[in-house]
Amino acid sequence: MERLPGFRDFYPEPLPQPDMWSADARQYIFSKWRQTARRYGFREYDGPPLEPLELFTTKSGEEIVGQLYNFQDKGERDVSLRPEMTPTLARMIAAHERSYKKPVKWFAIPQLFRYERQQKGRLREHFQLNADIIGEKDPAADAELIALLIDTLRSLGLTEKDFTVRLSSRNAWHDFFVRHHGNTAKEHEFYQIIDKLEREAQEQSAEKLGRIGFSLEDVSAFIEKSEPTPELKAILDNLNSRGLGDYVKIDYHVIRGLAYYTGIVFEAFDLKGEFRAITGGGRYDNLIKLISGDKVDLPALGFGMGDVVLLELLKARKLLPKFEATLDAFCLIEDESLRAESLKLIQDLRSAGLIADYSLTAAKSDKQFKRAQELKATQTVKLERNQAGELVARLKNLKTREELSVNPAEVAKQLCGTH
Ligand code: HAM
Repeated sequence: MERLPGFRDFYPEPLPQPDMWSADARQYIFSKWRQTARRYGFREYDGPPLEPLELFTTKSGEEIVGQLYNFQDKGERDVSLRPEMTPTLARMIAAHERSYKKPVKWFAIPQLFRYERQQKGRLREHFQLNADIIGEKDPAADAELIALLIDTLRSLGLTEKDFTVRLSSRNAWHDFFVRHHGNTAKEHEFYQIIDKLEREAQEQSAEKLGRIGFSLEDVSAFIEKSEPTPELKAILDNLNSRGLGDYVKIDYHVIRGLAYYTGIVFEAFDLKGEFRAITGGGRYDNLIKLISGDKVDLPALGFGMGDVVLLELLKARKLLPKFEATLDAFCLIEDESLRAESLKLIQDLRSAGLIADYSLTAAKSDKQFKRAQELKATQTVKLERNQAGELVARLKNLKTREELSVNPAEVAKQLCGTH
């Protein structure tokens, strides 16, 4: 049986083949995501992977709606696997916002599903770090979120030489649109053309823009000038104060595909331009109002950082650590009459937080020792009886070859001091 296209198996290292997905690398990324978000005072939340279809058709935008994994469940409800986390978060906040002091700073690591055409950096399932701030209008919140994004990537060893955050604003584009057009009809269509500018042939973009009364020259001149709005200037100043100014630049090419964004938008890219966006986000000040049916009105902003592009980038820059499973101790049971006492010892070691393993069934001592080496045990520990009939634990450090005899009750303490 093959797995479905675009889905992944995650194997523990060492990987049977180098192009496989590593469960250890995934865990490593998740732990950096969690640590950094927590350092910024974000709390973890989660929601269901399956949602009413309507939650996503309301406001995610056509592109994502076209990629939904949706079906009718056995109760004839129209449901969908989540393609993104933001609508779920908006629903959760709308339901219980009074219980939380503002601004709310939350993060999640959901697995998301999009029926996309498979290509480099795009699969049908991926994980995202989602970090969002709810209930704060001031650009200080935007700067805080972008600082988190930068620090998350820095925690994985990436520097200003590896990636940049392209910062833009739908407000700036809105003003441009109204200045040139006088009204807001076709504004969404205009945004979609801007979103595709870098991916489409110039003539095609020029023709599409012309159809709604714009010229490619005006649009290009606006992007070229990249003059920050007061809001963007405040964010840049804030990031400069933190010493993070080198990581961001104004780039009006970015407008974001999702329909719900209202103000600041941004994307993080590798500087060599080899990969797709590592992260995308922005403000969505109207989404909670929309999803709550006008009951709750709170400004919000956030980002999603995908694991697929990030892993490709970390691999390419050789920034992934070597993942070696190690054991603190392997218990050799050479005398089967001591199995019960050995199990007690193993239990003690594990209770002390040590990683301990042993042979589940009787085995020759050389086989057990070989297994200890294969599992990269730091120490072996073996129970023996001395001449007086008392139990003694014999420890052997497999690196230094040092040997030591201790009271079985002292083994955990001894190993905690050395591992
Ligand atoms: P998004 O731009 O659709 O935004 O996705 C964010 C990131 O997830 C992308 O930059 C990319 O790294 C990764 N990603 C997206 N689709 C795939 C895929 N099919 N395969 C692999 N990686 C993928 C959102 O999802 C917004 N909800 C983010 C957000 C949170 N905005 C506000 N809060």
